[in-house]
This record gives sequence, structure tokens and C-alpha cells, in this order.
Amino acid sequence: MKIKQINIKIREFDSEAELSAEERKLLNEAVGAIDSSYAPYSEFHVGTAVLLENGGVVTAGNQENAAYPSGLCAERVALFYAQSKYPDIAIKTIALTAATEQFDICTPLAPCGACRQVIAEAENRQQLPIIILMRGNTGPIYKVTGIESLLPFAFFEKKLRKYPNH
Ligand code: THU
Repeated sequence: MKIKQINIKIREFDSEAELSAEERKLLNEAVGAIDSSYAPYSEFHVGTAVLLENGGVVTAGNQENAAYPSGLCAERVALFYAQSKYPDIAIKTIALTAATEQFDICTPLAPCGACRQVIAEAENRQQLPIIILMRGNTGPIYKVTGIESLLPFAFFEKKLRKYPNH
């Protein structure tokens, strides 16, 4: 038996002032996108902003539904929109945050498992890592470069076929 350990790198920033101007702006667009959240059931309002390689930005909020599983996270709303509208433009960064009237979110909001899988697919499609910026309402900001840090052992297209050593 062997133990295999995975090492992930997370950059932690104490405040937005430590970020680049581009990252700060994107996070603020994610904060603004909280207003586009439709979350009457959870009252957990998520905002996300996706920065494209050409400088374009796509923002989205989570969209809930009375039939609960029919709703969609903010990240997937934004990523699917970006990929539908700009299929040939790579995604550089995705920033996310959330707000609720119930409490202060004092740790960085991390994407759910399904959204991580969708980010993995986008990376695989464009063959470029995506930067993920995460913040709450207070507390630190986390940055990772590449979904592997949040989703080791992601399921990729290669697994659907018989490749040697897969
Ligand atoms: N949600 C997101 O939009 N993104 C996340 O990363 C976590 C969860 C949404 C789904 C649902 O509308 C609400 O937050 C509570 O789970």
C-alpha cells in the first residue's frame, strides 16, 4: 500500500487592496451580480463574474425554482452563457461571492461540486487553466489557479474512452 498525497496551492489575501486592479474590478462585478440573484427559497444570493480572454465580462446570479433541483448556481449560469455566446473566447477568471440577510459570510465562498466539474470541462475545452477568486462578505479572499486545486480527480472526456493507462 502507498499513500499518495495531493498538495494544493491557495493564495490568501487579507483584503482586496492586495489584488491586481483587474481582479479587484472582477470581484466587485461579482458583488454587483448578487442583485441579479433570484433566490426566494434559500435567500442565499450568489453573484459571479467571468472574465474572458478578450476583456469581456459575463455576470450572473443563482436562479432558483419552486421545483428546487431545477434551479442553477450563479457560476453555471455565467459559464454556460459565456460558452454559448462566446464559444471561441477562453475564460480567464471566475470570481464569486454571496450575501444573505441571515448572517455574515466570513469565509470565502467556494463553488459547489457540480460547478467545479463544469469549470473542469471549460478548462479542458480551452486547454488553459482558469483562475478562481472567492470571497465572502468579510474575511480573506482566496485565489486558485486551475480547478485541479479544488477538484482533484475530476472526470474528463478521456475517461469515456479506452486510452492506454486510463
Ligand atoms: N449556490 C450558488 O449559486 N453557487 C455556489 O457556489 C453555491 C450555491 C446557490 C444554489 C442555491 O440557489 C443557493 O446558492 C443555496 O444553495
